[in-house]
Amino acid sequence: MKNIIVAGNWKSNVNFSDAEDLIVEIAENSEDRSNKVEVIICPPFVYLEMATDIQQESNLFIGAQNISSHENGAYTGEISGEMLKSMDVNFAIIGHSERRKYFNETDDILLDKLNMALKNHINPIFCIGELLEERQADKHFEVIKQQLENTVFKLSKEDFEHVTLAYEPVWAIGTGVTASKEQAQEMHAFIRNLISEKFGEVIADECFILYGGSCNASNAYELFSQPDVDGGLIGGASLKADEFLKIIDAAEAVTAKS
Ligand code: PGA
Repeated sequence: MKNIIVAGNWKSNVNFSDAEDLIVEIAENSEDRSNKVEVIICPPFVYLEMATDIQQESNLFIGAQNISSHENGAYTGEISGEMLKSMDVNFAIIGHSERRKYFNETDDILLDKLNMALKNHINPIFCIGELLEERQADKHFEVIKQQLENTVFKLSKEDFEHVTLAYEPVWAIGTGVTASKEQAQEMHAFIRNLISEKFGEVIADECFILYGGSCNASNAYELFSQPDVDGGLIGGASLKADEFLKIIDAAEAVTAKS
């Protein structure tokens, strides 16, 4: 069985000292774990330096929550791929539904961001997901296919191999309504099949497809036990060390049973 990824997306939360306490607690409690579970922490940009310092003593990975679609230059307020690379950041979340919705990030912009990350050896965690009305209209498969075709399926096979996908149904994000294990498995299998048609079976099998949307300590085990769910992108439940550590425990338990 391949590894499981548990990624925490802190979004725009936590002050500096709480951020430090949170990451230290997660790092300390991750020391004796097997290397079958990869833990990625994605704090706000301003805490990345602190996070990468702590990470050096641990087996955590650090990710950014965004990346500029531009190179360094006259883009006030932007954080470029080159900057992230120079801070030893390993991952960047791209295409989160909150970026799409509140910051008008289109598929074209997201493709530029993907290319910027890849050029700087930062592994994208690329999010896709349908709205509630799209699921209710039975358009969810069509929407996901289109999102993939407009973005990651435009990458070369070599670049795609560095992409981790996160299926995050928008109706499940921050709502407390989680996709059922059947809904998650069905969509993840659909996505894997599309990857296989596009890039071949080996790449499809190797691709990590995470589930995100109200994933927590009580549902992580059953979600991660699904054959095509390779871990989770966790928002709210990543902000409390004990809850997040329980999710990591659930991932460990899934890897241990196979
Ligand atoms: P949630 O967020 O776990 O709070 O639903 C997930 C995400 O937005 O990545």
